[in-house]
Amino acid sequence: MGRQRILITGGSGLLALNWACCMRSEHEIHLAQHVRRINLRGVQVTSLALDSVETMSRQLARIRPDLVVHTAGMTSVDECERHPDMAHHANAILARNVAEVCARLGIRLIHISTDHLFDGKNGPYTEDAVPKPLNAYARTKLLAEQRVMKAHAGALVIRTNFFGWGHALRRSFSDWILYSLRDDQALTMFDDVFFTPILADRLADAAHRLADLGAKGVYNVAGEDRVSKYEFALRLARAFSLPEVLVQHGRIAASRLLAERPRDMSLDSTEARKLLGANMGGTAEFFDALRRQDEGGRREELLAAVSE
Ligand SMILES: NC(=O)c1ccc[n+]([C@@H]2O[C@H](COP(=O)([O-])OP(=O)(O)OC[C@H]3O[C@@H](n4cnc5c(N)ncnc54)[C@H](OP(=O)(O)O)[C@@H]3O)[C@@H](O)[C@H]2O)c1
Repeated sequence: MGRQRILITGGSGLLALNWACCMRSEHEIHLAQHVRRINLRGVQVTSLALDSVETMSRQLARIRPDLVVHTAGMTSVDECERHPDMAHHANAILARNVAEVCARLGIRLIHISTDHLFDGKNGPYTEDAVPKPLNAYARTKLLAEQRVMKAHAGALVIRTNFFGWGHALRRSFSDWILYSLRDDQALTMFDDVFFTPILADRLADAAHRLADLGAKGVYNVAGEDRVSKYEFALRLARAFSLPEVLVQHGRIAASRLLAERPRDMSLDSTEARKLLGANMGGTAEFFDALRRQDEGGRREELLAAVSE
């Protein structure tokens, strides 16, 4: 497919900003702004009333995107646990609204879901594994998937877990590790929690290719390496020549987090791999790309891209 007009909700978020950077030379990108202001070279910033189907319909009918990528949501697991009604609104209601409007206007939709939907006892999870949400975040994201697919029969729902460079008000998991190690701070990382992280750019690229192939319904798009949080931090430290000794073993079993969390969130991306005819990549290549992004100015650019 040629140049497309793509509108990304949650424009000030970690995923949306990296998605925009990854796609802006190839496509026309519109980032939908909520509370925080966005200023990013080569993309357009717009307002979108995600909480009103009627207003959003008029706005999208004006912009006429070929594709909407819905990333907006309440992403802090503990905040969702503290405020389940807000989480329900931000994660389930807004996703349903976006899907309804896209269906009404005939716009293709990629909805971003999560690897957090399971109880963590039987990973890696395929698309047909039965979700068993352990907390409010997971419950509202599962509801979002169901409502999106009910409202928009052609929607592509991507389950994932990603990382990339964040902005000054939103540090990513990899930022937190890298900045701490650069400041000589020791980190306690869970060695009893497993996941399959993917670099945000690789996720964006795979999601677009799946959408262009007409994929619909749920697809896992995750990294090929199943690692513990501890192992992820250790490999990242090594890739950036930072002191591995500062990465210390911790256990979620001994921690006091508000919301219960799955111990194994790893996803099996076989279906996406088959359709795309390529694997999703692993931590070594993602860290290499992350370093090259830093050298190319992405980290600095994103640090300054969002303000209150
Ligand atoms: N981060 C991860 O590792 C991870 C893992 C799996 C899945 N996901 C999913 O991936 C998606 C993107 O995550 P992210 O980490 O990029 O998110 P993020 O950095 O936390 O950003 C969330 C975005 O949603 C917007 N937003 C929040 N509440 C809103 C509302 N009521 N109305 C409109 N916009 C609202 C925020 O705007 P303001 O800042 O202006 O409020 C922000 O732009 C989410 O759907 C998340 O569930 C994330």
